[in-house]
Formats: sequence, C-alpha cells, structure tokens
Amino acid sequence: MKRMTRVALITSGGDCQGLNAAIRGVGKALYERLDRVEIYGMYDGYRGLIECDYKFMEPKDFSGILTRGGTILGTSRQRYIPGKDIVDEEGRSLLPDMLHTYNRLNLDCLVIMGGNGTQKSAKLLMDAGMNVITLPKTIDNDIYGTDTTFGFQSAVDIATNVIDYLHTTACSHGRIFVVELMGRDAGWLTLSAGIASGADVILIPEIPYDIEKVAEVIRARKRGGHGFSIVACAEGAVSIKDQKLDEEAARRKKESSPYSTVSYAIAAELEKLTGQDTRVTVPGHYQRGGPPCPYDRALATQFGTAAADLIIKQQYGRMVALQNSVITSIPLEEAASRTKFLPVDHPMIQVARDIGISLGD
Ligand code: F6P
Repeated sequence: MKRMTRVALITSGGDCQGLNAAIRGVGKALYERLDRVEIYGMYDGYRGLIECDYKFMEPKDFSGILTRGGTILGTSRQRYIPGKDIVDEEGRSLLPDMLHTYNRLNLDCLVIMGGNGTQKSAKLLMDAGMNVITLPKTIDNDIYGTDTTFGFQSAVDIATNVIDYLHTTACSHGRIFVVELMGRDAGWLTLSAGIASGADVILIPEIPYDIEKVAEVIRARKRGGHGFSIVACAEGAVSIKDQKLDEEAARRKKESSPYSTVSYAIAAELEKLTGQDTRVTVPGHYQRGGPPCPYDRALATQFGTAAADLIIKQQYGRMVALQNSVITSIPLEEAASRTKFLPVDHPMIQVARDIGISLGD
C-alpha cells in the first residue's frame, strides 16, 4: 500500500489577492499527483494550528475558488518576537501548541502562505521541528529572494485605477491630490502604480523627500500650464528631516502629530507652500480586496503547484520563488533573513526620473 501524505495549509498575516488560487494550486496538484493524500485547511492562520481548528479538504473544496479574493481559510496575525518566538498575550510561547497539532494530525508538512513576517515566523516553526514549505504572498512585494509575490500585481492594478480616476477630478478643479498607498516600509507598490498612472511626484520610504522640492515641482507645473498635480505617496514615506530623528524622537513626533497619516501632513504642507487647493485619498485595504488579476492567478497557481512538487520530493524548509521568470525555491532561512526594499538604483527609479517624475529628493 502506498504511503499516506498529510499536508496542512495555512494562510497567515494580512490577506491579499491570489491566496485562494494558491490554495487551489497546492490542493489540485496534490490530489492529481498522489494516490494517497490528506489535506487539512487550518482556520485563521496560525490560530488553527495552535488550537487544532481545521477543515479536512476534499477535492471539491479546491474548485470554484480561483477568482475569489481573500482567503477561504481565514487569516490572523500572531505576536511575533523577532527571531525568537510566537507568543500569546501573556508572552507564553505558542510553538509547543503548534507542534502538538502537527504531531497529533501526523503531518508531513505545513504549507504556509504569508508575507514578510510570516516567512520569518515560519522559520521558527521549522526550527521547532516541523516540515515547512512557504509561498510568498503580499501586496508589498518586500519578500527577499523572489522577484515578485502574488497579490502585488493586483494591488498595483487597483492603485493605478484609483489614481487614473483622481486624475480627471484633479484636472477639473486644478487641485493637488496626495494619494497614500500601502506597502509598509517598501516603495514597490507606490513606484509601480505611480509610474503606471502618470503621477507627477512619487514619494517612497527608500528615498526621503524634501517638501520644499515637492512644492517647487508643483509650482513649476502650474507655471507650465498644469493646474493640477498628483503625488503618489507610500504610507512609509519619510521626510529628510524626520529621517534624521532617532527612534524615540520619531515616536514622540508621531504621537503629537495632528495628522493621522503621512499623506495628510504632506497635503497640509503643500497647501501652505503652494497656495493650491489640496485633497488626500487613502484607498487603504481596498488595495488588498477583490479578485486577483490574471497575472496573480497564474503566478499563485504556479507557486501552489511548485509547493506540491516540493512536498512530493520531500524537499522541506524552502520558500517557492520567482527568479528571472523561472519558478524555483530557496532555503527558508534565506528568505526570512531580510526584507526586500526597493534599491535606490533600481531601473524603475531611473525610468521615473527619465520621464520627469519627481522623487522628492
Ligand atoms: O503587509 C500588507 C499590508 O497591507 C501593508 O501594506 C499595510 O501596511 C498593512 O498590511 C496593513 O495591515 P492591517 O491589515 O493589519 O491593517
């Protein structure tokens, strides 16, 4: 009798488009390729593993979900102590509970789909003795070792569409629009959507901005006959002045700021410096919602089937990745070792500069 393979699927951290396509890719490929397989869908990310809360997934569970946004398994964030532990509210390690479920279900492997934080926490599960394969998902595109993550392109499409729509109203009223995009401390999403939508200024965390220079770009546009301007601003954008503050001073400044996010502060300063009517748009989680774009559907499917392949070959402790258009995998410890910020010499940054987009520096 052929050996039984038991796999648990986990979607962890913030959701994004393409998670269900990836779940489907893993599940369909395993049922196609193995004679004997049991697949468990753990509910709400690591919570399902901690509390042994799961759904046994049959082949039919992997149908009809390709185009659905979010995750059919649910997701959650756990408290993660960098490089050390995953803990509950009281600081108690949750790794023993996870290992307990892993052993109780007699699992061969966990397939964990997650962002940057999840890659790091998945490494702790691996170190605790569990076989782990991870898939890189996030709209931030900040996972080290992969050219892109699923979810990213869908978010770029949405963010681009938001700015396209704002263009018409900005133009009618001759206003400045500051559009705040997600991405945490990485500027991939803002740069890509900013270029795709023809933003006039793109502010990313990797290149601190000088507000005077941004204001001058806008004034120059007005002198040149362009009464409106679009500033695509990453949620993690920082001014040259603020970048010099130490952690404590930055925290105090943030706490005493009258503005809820960076884009409101930028808008207020620009209005004062240019005298132009200014508005803020923050699409927020809208960028993570809705169906995956075709690129993400295909990418997540490929990542999912690659994970199934690694399981069949019993190659654990790896993250599936896309490198130079080829689906491959890298050691999880490498993927979890750092965050992939946008290099300041990235060709896309040069492209932006070449067509006259200001990076605020
Ligand atoms: O990491 C994905 C992301 O959407 C970031 O771009 C954003 O900063 C964060 O998650 C928002 O987190 P939450 O969903 O917890 O509000």
